[in-house]
Amino acid sequence: MSGDRDMPKVIFIESTDVQYSVEAPVGRSLMQVAVDNMVPGIDGECGGACSCATCHVYVEPDWQARLPARSSDETFMLEGAVEVDGRSRLSCQLKMHEEWDGLVLRIPAVQG
Ligand code: FES
Repeated sequence: MSGDRDMPKVIFIESTDVQYSVEAPVGRSLMQVAVDNMVPGIDGECGGACSCATCHVYVEPDWQARLPARSSDETFMLEGAVEVDGRSRLSCQLKMHEEWDGLVLRIPAVQG
């Protein structure tokens, strides 16, 4: 492991403010990272095919501009999700980037 940097982490926060700081391998979808770590409220029912919206999260304001823009598929799916706002993303559509260490994602209350 010499020379390796620590694996980046992302932080999921439930609506009750319970926090989960979990390791996120670069390239893995953030939905899969949540499922791997049994973070409640992120079900990923469609397996990351952008067709269920059970991976809906809110991106903290400081991070929103640092993530890639929503695709048209993601925008379309979010239109059918509940409690969607400007912070909303589908976590299966976000593939972990090495510069996202410390990324904060909140889980909508309706999923928690
Ligand atoms: Fe189904 Fe993200 S896991 S839309």
